[in-house]
Amino acid sequence: PITQTLKEKAKFKIGAAVKMRDLQGEANYKNAVLKHYSQITAEFEMKMASIWTSSTAYNFTAADYLVGFAKDNNLEVHGHTLVWYDSFPEWFKNAKYDSIAFESKVKVYITDVVGRYKGRVKSWDVVNEVFADGGAMRNETVINSLFKDPIGFYGRCFRYAKAADPDAKLFYNDYSVALDAGKRASIKKMVTRFKANGVPIDGIGDQFHYATDTNRQTMKTGFTDMASTGLLIHISELDIKVNTSKSDSYVFTDTEAQKQAETYKYITTLYEELPQAQKFAISTWGVTDKYTWLTTFWNSKEYPLLLDADYNKKPAYHGFLEGLK
Ligand code: G3I
Repeated sequence: PITQTLKEKAKFKIGAAVKMRDLQGEANYKNAVLKHYSQITAEFEMKMASIWTSSTAYNFTAADYLVGFAKDNNLEVHGHTLVWYDSFPEWFKNAKYDSIAFESKVKVYITDVVGRYKGRVKSWDVVNEVFADGGAMRNETVINSLFKDPIGFYGRCFRYAKAADPDAKLFYNDYSVALDAGKRASIKKMVTRFKANGVPIDGIGDQFHYATDTNRQTMKTGFTDMASTGLLIHISELDIKVNTSKSDSYVFTDTEAQKQAETYKYITTLYEELPQAQKFAISTWGVTDKYTWLTTFWNSKEYPLLLDADYNKKPAYHGFLEGLK
């Protein structure tokens, strides 16, 4: 039979991080999104740095475009991300608000953004990347340095999002959740506190920015522990590095492509072991090797996604499919 596409075979959403520039500028990119994916995440356009242009104005142009594109093409939208220390706009940081003013402005921002897309953006990464490796609070100077009880602030942000759209699924998102036992312990402690206090959290995202040499037993143990929270589980930014030594002379051979396919298959097999009620989505962080963030942030010779630079399916695409039930 003709090979099914990712979204045809999966019993949960298959998402991709997309850029407005690429959707508008490249027909092959847009067609690949429509062919293989059932959900989109804005790689940048729905973050504070993109929307919150000044204390008196928002710029929703790009976010509106993506939400409109999704609606026109029957795609879901996963909102990424409301509160992230790394995406506060410069003007906001320079204002040096005290914690009261800081929180009242963030509350208005969350209310305005979630309210604008109520009923159209069905899920949000309310909070992103709060913990450092090992599980201590991240040592950043935007949020954690301002609040004596940062977790309390983050919990209130979930409440603000819930109030703005009671039907939206609200996630905490972070990287290396499955691999970093200390970080995972801190996340689980936060989830326990949130549940005890009635904070409306529905899910956890592990970004899964992993590699062909990521230890699979560690991944499995951690993923299972993450699932023990009982929350929706989102593999939220999946890409699998192949150039694990960051070599400028790396060659993506057939053998390397096969290793990557096996890693993707391992991950989708692992995800399928979740109880159906905890399945939400697997989202890749990008559509094509042509536009991966990793060629900038890792090495120019990196090929982490399911489609190659010409939008052809790689062995990784078939490996991903094979793991799906
Ligand atoms: O195009 C804009 C330009 O108009 C603007 O003036 C300028 C100043 O802010 O930014 C330009 O946008 C760049 C944007 O990517 C383009 O899409 C930003 O400089 C650049 O910082 C941004 O990088 C993104 C990064 O998050 C920071 O937001 C990457 O594309 C994106 O892949 C990366 O994604 C993150 C997830 O959100 C969280 N998990 C980790 C992941 C990888 O770092």
